[in-house]
Order: sequence, then structure tokens, then C-alpha cells
Amino acid sequence: MPFIIAIDGPAASGKGTIARALAGHFGFHHLDTGLLYRATGVRGGDPVIAARTLSADDLARPDLRSAEAGQAASRVAAIPEVRAALVDFQHRFAAQEPGAVLDGRDIGTVICPDAQVKLYVVASDRVRAARRAAELGADPARMLTELQDRDRRDSERATAPLRPAPDAVVIDTSDMAIDQAVATAIGTVERAREAG
Ligand code: DC
Repeated sequence: MPFIIAIDGPAASGKGTIARALAGHFGFHHLDTGLLYRATGVRGGDPVIAARTLSADDLARPDLRSAEAGQAASRVAAIPEVRAALVDFQHRFAAQEPGAVLDGRDIGTVICPDAQVKLYVVASDRVRAARRAAELGADPARMLTELQDRDRRDSERATAPLRPAPDAVVIDTSDMAIDQAVATAIGTVERAREAG
């Protein structure tokens, strides 16, 4: 049975960095599920059809990391038919041996509720805005509004809202260097592997 690590949390909390590092450390596959919603959001036209017909080219677009793509993703992610269209792909990805790390908003709650490890990664609004501003070369105040806007939409939607699974381990990366956050996550996974 593959080992699944589910990582959720708000935008720019550090979950993507932790997910990539865990996948590298344990030799697991990694899926940034936000890219599926970003690719759906930027395609234009009917988002349900876009989600049903996503191609490898859509996922390789160079503009997917922009703040605009993030907002477009958050809007289409509130449509239940869009979410439903992306479930099979995520389940197939998670079923790969020897294991998979998926990061997003609903991985531990909806997509992989039986994951062996669930992490919920958070950081203060100020820290997240500063990180995103540095990453995109943008203004921190504008990034703060953008993140808060997106978090509100992602948390308040009716279908698969952003929230921790009851058995998720919370990692607050506000005052942690990347190495420290990654070491904390690796320690949590190692303990779960020893216990299981
Ligand atoms: O992780 P990200 O910032 O790339 O995600 C972009 C948007 O996609 C996010 O604001 C909400 C949506 N999303 C989602 O609803 N569910 C996921 N599993 C991943 C992302």
C-alpha cells in the first residue's frame, strides 16, 4: 500500500516547500494540487469544461504562479463540478508506489482522508505576505490583501473548504527557517512510519 502524506494550509504558508522536501527525502511522488486549479482558472471559457479537459500543456504554462492565476484558481475552486472533475486525477496520483505527497486545501479532509500523515501548515499573515512578495517581486501590502482575500474565499466556500483534518499535525512556520520547518515535518513522518 502506498504511503500518503497530505499537506494542507493557506497560501504561502510554506506547504509547497515542505511537500517538495518530503517527497525528495522519502523518494515519493509530489503533486502541487493548486496547479490544477490555477490551470483551470487561467484557461478561460467554461471552468467545468476546462477542469474536465486539462492537459499536460495547461499544467506547464509559465504564468501559473502569478497572483492573478492564484485569484482565478480560488474562484473556480469554489465550483463543486470543477472540484469533482479533478478528484480522479488526484486519487490516481496518490495511489502510486512507494508513496505520494499531495499539497493543497482539502487533501487531508476530502481527497485522501486515510492518508498516513496529515500536516496542516500555517504562518502569520504578515510572514506569508512578505514571503509571497519576495517570491513574486511584488508589494507586501498588495500581497497581504491578495492572500487574505483568497484565504477568506477558500475557507468560506461550501464545498471542501480550507480547514485542518481533525487528526492533522499543525506546523506553524512563522518563526522557522526552511530547514527547521522541513526537519519538523520529516520528524513527524518518521514517527508515523515507525508507529505504522
Ligand atoms: O496552493 P495554491 O496557492 O497554488 O492554490 C491556488 C488556489 O487553488 C487556492 O487559493 C484555492 C485552490 N485550491 C483548492 O481549492 N484546493 C486545493 N487542493 C488546492 C488549491
